[in-house]
Formats: sequence, C-alpha cells, structure tokens
Amino acid sequence: MNKSITPILLILLLLAILAVELVLYHAKKTRQISEQASLTPTELRCDDLKNPVGIDFQKPMFTWALPPAQGRQQAAYQILIASSRNSLAQNNGDVWDSGKVNSSQSVQVDFGGKPLSSGGAYFWKVRIWDAGGTMSQWSAPADWTMGLLNASDWKAKWIGLDEGITNTRSLPARWLRKEFVLSKPVERAMVYYSGLGWSELYVNSERVGEHVLSPPLSQYPKREYYQTCELTRLLNSGSNALGMVLGNGRFFAPRMNAANAGYPKLILQLHVEFSDGTATNILSDDSWKLTTNGPVTANNEYDGEEYDARKEIPGWCRPGFDDSKWQAVEFVSAPGEVLSAVRQRPIRVTQEIKPVTMKEIKPGVYIFDLGQNIAGWCKLNVKGPAGTQVTLRYAETLTPDGELYTANLRSAKATDVYTLKGGGDESWQPRFTLHGFRYVEITDYPGKPTLDSLTGCVVGDHLPVIGAFECSNPLINKIYHNIVWGVRDNYRSIPTDCCQRDERQGWLGDRAEESRGETYFFENDALYSKWLQDIADCQRTNGNISSVCPAYWRDYAKEVTWASASVVIPGMLRDQFGDKQVVAEHYDCAKKWIEHMLGFMTNGIITNDVYGDWCMPPEDPKLIHSKDPSRITRGPLLATPFFYNDLGLMQSYALQLGKADDAERYGKLAKTMKDAFNKQFLNRDTGQYDNGTPTSSVLPLAFDMVPPELHYRAFQFLVNKLSGTWNNHIGTGLVGGKYLMRVLSENGRPDLAYAIVTQTNYPGWGYMVEHDATTVWELWNGDTADPAMNSGNHVMLIGDLAIWMYENLAGIEPDPEQPGFKHIIMRPLPIGDLTFVKAWHRSPYGLIRSEWHRQGNEFDWHIEIPANSTATIYLPTSHAESTTDDNQTLDKAPGVKLINSTEGGPVAAALEPGTYDFVCEDFNSDLFWQPEGTQFSF
Ligand code: BGC
Repeated sequence: MNKSITPILLILLLLAILAVELVLYHAKKTRQISEQASLTPTELRCDDLKNPVGIDFQKPMFTWALPPAQGRQQAAYQILIASSRNSLAQNNGDVWDSGKVNSSQSVQVDFGGKPLSSGGAYFWKVRIWDAGGTMSQWSAPADWTMGLLNASDWKAKWIGLDEGITNTRSLPARWLRKEFVLSKPVERAMVYYSGLGWSELYVNSERVGEHVLSPPLSQYPKREYYQTCELTRLLNSGSNALGMVLGNGRFFAPRMNAANAGYPKLILQLHVEFSDGTATNILSDDSWKLTTNGPVTANNEYDGEEYDARKEIPGWCRPGFDDSKWQAVEFVSAPGEVLSAVRQRPIRVTQEIKPVTMKEIKPGVYIFDLGQNIAGWCKLNVKGPAGTQVTLRYAETLTPDGELYTANLRSAKATDVYTLKGGGDESWQPRFTLHGFRYVEITDYPGKPTLDSLTGCVVGDHLPVIGAFECSNPLINKIYHNIVWGVRDNYRSIPTDCCQRDERQGWLGDRAEESRGETYFFENDALYSKWLQDIADCQRTNGNISSVCPAYWRDYAKEVTWASASVVIPGMLRDQFGDKQVVAEHYDCAKKWIEHMLGFMTNGIITNDVYGDWCMPPEDPKLIHSKDPSRITRGPLLATPFFYNDLGLMQSYALQLGKADDAERYGKLAKTMKDAFNKQFLNRDTGQYDNGTPTSSVLPLAFDMVPPELHYRAFQFLVNKLSGTWNNHIGTGLVGGKYLMRVLSENGRPDLAYAIVTQTNYPGWGYMVEHDATTVWELWNGDTADPAMNSGNHVMLIGDLAIWMYENLAGIEPDPEQPGFKHIIMRPLPIGDLTFVKAWHRSPYGLIRSEWHRQGNEFDWHIEIPANSTATIYLPTSHAESTTDDNQTLDKAPGVKLINSTEGGPVAAALEPGTYDFVCEDFNSDLFWQPEGTQFSF
C-alpha cells in the first residue's frame, strides 16, 4: 500500500468511528430525552385542586401522577417552589427546593419551605426518578395563590343595609357599586370578597368568574367563606367600577323557622399591585352605594326568583354611571367568627339540556319535559310586549291529568316570574334560586312557545368525572344512571338530602357510607373535606353533633347513626383519595363526639337512636314509615353496631396519628360492646338478632361482630329472611342498605344481591326505573306514598349499591393498608346473566380500568393499573395453567407474579403497573360465591 495513503485512510477510519459514535450518542440522548419526557409527572395538584386561587392553609400538600407505563414506579421526587414564574423557569426554588427525596409518595406530599405570605403567588414543578434511576423532565409549571392568612390582613369592612321588608323571606336583590381610579399600569390585582348569602361580582360591567350560588354554604355565624379571584386583566388604567349583586341564599333564611343569620352583606378587598412596585387597596367601606330597586324584585331559594327586566339598570357597573339616586351603604356588623378561604370546587351551570317534549295542556298552559330530573333552573327565550309576565313553575312529576304535581314540594313555591322589557328577543335565567325538577309549566307566554323557548340549566358543584360503569344488563345501567344524576343533583357546596322541597339540608345519615360510592365517579374529596368542617363547626361544646350540617335546622338529636358521619367520612376520604390530612384535621371533632356519646352507653349497649332504619319499605304503599313491628329495627340494634364500627375507625385513626392510648381505649370499648351486643341480642341457636329484620343481621355481619363460630348461621338467617319474607327484594331502609349488597356478596351470596338489584317490582331500584324515575327516590314507594315526605331525588336509598357496582361487579377496590389506590384489590363478580362489565376510575395515581367479558367457558379481562401503584387480582378460575395474559402463560407474562392461593380457589396474582389482557379458558362463575353458603376465604 502507498505509504502516503495509509494516514489518510486512518484519518478517514477515525472520522467514520467518530461519526458512528456521534450518531449513537445522539440516538441514546434522544432515547433518554424521550424516556425522560414520557416519565414527566402530570395532573399537578396543590391542596387537592388544580392551580387553586386563594388558599389559606399554611401547609399546602402536593400531588401528581405519572404517565402510565409497564412496571413504572416512582423511586424519588424533587419539588421546586418559586415566588415567580421566571425563578421557576431558571430552576430557582427560592421558596422551597425539596432536593431529591427517595420516596414513592406522589399524593399529598407536605410543604416544607419558607413561610407563605398572605396574598402571595407561588409557582411549582416536580420531577421524579423511576425505579431504574431514570430522571424525568420537570413537569409543566403549576401555580397557586394564597388568600388572606390573618384576620388583621382584612382592611375592608362589612357593608350592607341592615333593614328591609320584614314580613317576607324573599327580599329584592341588593345592587352595590363603587368607582375608583387607578393612575398607574396594573401588574397584578387580586380580589377577596364574601357576598352573603349569595353574590355576583362585576368589574367594569363584566361578570367575574363562572361560579354561581357562591360563596359556599356554611355554619353561620361561626364561619363564612370568601372567594378569591384575579382581576388583573379586567381593570383599566384610569376609571374603574366594581359592582356586586347580593341575594339571600341561606344567610337570610328562606323560612322563618330556619336559622337566620341576618340581611345580605358584603366584605371586599381588592389589592392592586402596580408595575412600579407600589400597591393600593380598594375596600368595601361607606363610600359604596346601594339600591334595592333593581330587576331582581324577589329571591328565595325555595320559592324562586322574580325578575322585572324593565327595572334593569344599564351601565350600573360602568365608570361614570349616575348613582345619585342610590343610597349610601351602612357599615354592618361582622357576620361571624371566622372568614375562611373557599377550599372546594365552585358551583356552576354544568350542563344545558333541551326539553324533549312540550304539550299545551290547557289554553296557554304549556308543560315542558326535560326527560331528566335535574337541579337547577331554566333559561327562558321570549319576545313580546313590555310588562308581559311569564311564569315558570317547576316539578319532578306530573299528575295523571298531565298537570304539574307539586304536593311533594311542601311549601316550596318553585316559581320564577319574568317580566319582559319588550322590544326584541329576550333571554333570562334566574341567579339566586334553585329548583329540583324534570317538568316546567309555562303560562302567559306571549304567543306560542316552542322547544327552543326553554333550556334546562343543570346547577351543582363542578366536579371532575372520575369514573364510569357499564354492564350487559340494561336495567342496572339505568339504575346507575339514576344514581349518578341523583348524586350530581344533590351537590351544592354541601351534599344535600334533596333539591326540590322546602328542605335541602345536609343530613348526615344520608351520606355517611353512601358517599364512598360517589367517590368512584365524582372527584368530591374537597367537597367532603369541607363538609367535615361544617360538621365540626356545628359541634356543641359538649361534643353533640347536629344531624343536619350546616345546622340551618337545629337537630341536635344525641343519636348515633346520623352523627357517625363525622367518624366514617374521614376514613372514607383516606381510603378512596389517600387523604391522610383529613383524619388528622378532624380527629378531635370525632373524638369529642365519641366521648359525648359514651356517656349514654350502659353495659356496652347504646340505645340512642332517633331515625330508625329510615325509610325501610313499608307494608302499605301509602305509608311513609312502616308501622309493622316485625319490619322495624329497634334503636339498640342500629346504634350499638354503628358505634362499635365508629370505635374501630377511631382506633385506626388513633394508630395512624400515633395516639396509642386512645387506640387501646377504643379497642377495649369496642370489645365490650361486641360481647354485650351478642349476649343481649343474638339467638345462638338460630343466628337471629332481636326480631330478625334484615338490617339487624346486616350490621353485625358487616362490622364483623358476629362470633366466628356463628357467622355462617347468622348469615344464613339473613339469606333466609331476604329470600323468604322478602321474596328476594330489598328489605332494608337507609341504615341497613349501606352494607347490604356487600354483606351478601362477600359472604358468598352475590346471586342474591344480583336478584335484589334486578327486581322490577316493589320494592327496589328497578321498580323506580319501571316507574319512569331518572333519579333515585326518597321512598321505595315514592310513586304512591304520602307527599308530605316523598322526594323524587334523594340519594340515601342508594346504600352501598354504587360501591357494589365498582368494587364487586367490576372488582376495583382500594386497599386500606395502602390507601388512595396505591394498592388495588381486584376481584370481579361475574354473576347472574351478566356477560360483561366495564368500569374505570381515575385514582390519584391515575386511571384504573377493569373490563371483563365472558362467553361459554372463557373469561376475558382487560385491566389497567396506573404507574406508581400495584394490584392484587383474583381471577375467576382455579387453573393458572389455562390462563394467559396477552397470549403468554402467567409464569412468563411480564408484570404478573402468581401468588399462592387456596387449593381450588381463584388464581391470585400480584400486578405491576401496566395493561393486561387475561384470558381464562376454564372460567368458573361459582368460584367467588357458594350457593350452599360456605365461607370462602381468599
Ligand atoms: C330528610 C332525610 C333525612 C331525614 C332524617 C328527611 O326529611 O329528607 O334525608 O335523613 O329527614 O330525619
């Protein structure tokens, strides 16, 4: 070879190697970047909410989720919090840099940075490392702002008009305004305000936010809530106007016999920061003007709103408006002890529904049918001469003649009146009322209305939907539909009993355990945490809790089953959302109540009960409550098991909080109660408790109170009762119904649970469906009973049905040992004639999916497990060898680890995060239940 060519070749060779290296390096880098990108945390939450505004909690908590991927687990995280967006972009965590923390925790990580300042804005992001050590990219930035942290931060004063018409509960709305000049460019403007009872804020004629019926209801005068909103973009350099409309809400009580907190009032503080670093406050003070002579001439939550469009005040919230005829506001007394920041999602118009039919039932009287029972109001479209008064009346059902049936609304007039201003198309909807309805009657409409004249506006807490359920049985799907709508219709900053009659209270017993089912499809953690605050605010110094919270009706009944919500709900939020904070926050309230009630315990038995097994199916279709002693469960059979369960929960909370003495005491008390209860009420020969109602058996079985050697006998007694006396129909009211479906299914008779749920004759959920219900009724005989207490939209009789659908039929269940679905237990029930079930639930860790189909001997099960969690699954076959995942045998399938299971029992496996497609060739539908009733242990 030519000597001079050799070095050239060598150089070329080196260059080629370098190029290959470079390509490989780039490929590796790109792979790394894309791996990092695909690891990037999402769904960032501060204090359980996305980018919350105005929190007044000094120790917010941070939550995120990881994108799903096979086997993905978090091994470490780092949180950065900065005081400006720029600092965060430069990775300068001047408020908090957690550093790399070796932990798999991704839900409710505690803040550990510098003290947060009142009104401050904060920006944060997080990155994680997976188990293989790969580091993610930083998440997209999220933010939050603080509210006013100290009472002394409030410079504004309460203003209003402490007088009005005294002989009505339906005042005209109050319109308030204030002009001000901003002489420099605005950098940031935050407003903090509480307009009680309900309010709408305007800036320069523009409505602020989409929230309605705000602020949230609260225990006046103990606590009021204030909103925080950013106004930066709505303010002008120069003249500005602020406007506020105040409605009555519950503050000015809608009825004489309810707790009344006073006349509507306002406190408002607008903090403006200018670009030059200076700041100013615009405050509610005596420079504001007020009129009661606006278009909302009357407003009452139960009775409706009257609006005279001829009295509209054009330009009332524009600078330069002539308010010389308005009166000066008065300084009024502060309404209560604490002004707290809103910590829940707002109420909004969440959906609009077009009517499905319109009928003229008499000349000029039109009935519209929305096809769905909703909570909200209607938007009216109309054109006609000025002064024409159109009346809208609302009802849930119709009489046999096709007229509105309003008897069950009791004194609620549920009537809106709109007076036209004339001169063109007019569109109006009320703002300070709420109706529960499916049908609307319109009278005095100018001309003939059409289906377009009316739109149903669904109003309620705007909660993310985090679950769905569907199966092959259309009746069950219809029942599920009714459940979801009933729940949705009864959220309005508190969970209410009903939304149509003159009641709409936060009855504790209705939600104590039923609320667990709701968490599968609505992200209601913040709502229920707030309700726990209402409960604590209602508590008397001796520990007694009102059965209605906020206590607008004062019902301090000294009973167990309703007030137990104060103990049950913290545990429910912990299990379902991984909320560790809630137990710590509400332990004292629960403990105080427990100690109070212990004063009523005699020899291990508590008899304090007021409501009985509320609304159990009565013998006579006209009755509200049964009078038949053989159907009625006596007080001690309700109060004692419930309290026993409460003590067990208290014990677990005490352990969680490191309160060993409390834990021991509650454990011992529970044991005393269990022994006393069985001694007094259990017939050891027959397994019957007391008079043998289904509820008297369901509770001790649900709470594991039955002596183990008699468990089967007691269960068999319940089964015989339901299949004999009750002919496979529901035989419980609200209290027994909270556990019925699970007790039957988890003790080996899911077939009986299935038979009960699929009945279409009285009593049952299917009976409601057959009778055209689109929500769940208050009474099993809601179509025939006395209207004095007979709502068509009450969630309490759902009992544990929604829980059963998700946990038992679909098989998606949290493990209380690793709450919030950090570990998932999956054990579906392929029962009855079901050929498929499909459900998903979005947990704090991400999406969980369970979809099974069966055909002949084959059972196919599609499962998705979110990153950073794990699952234990039970397959309905005892044959691991004829089961595959994605066509691979189970011993080879990635992410699947077989667990030793009982001989002849279901195949059990531990799953890593990921997607699975199991096929069981030897499907055995009986595996999860024994018709002969023998106990099965997993
Ligand atoms: C409510 C119920 C509540 C009950 C208790 C009823 O009027 O609507 O939901 O639990 O009273 O007494």
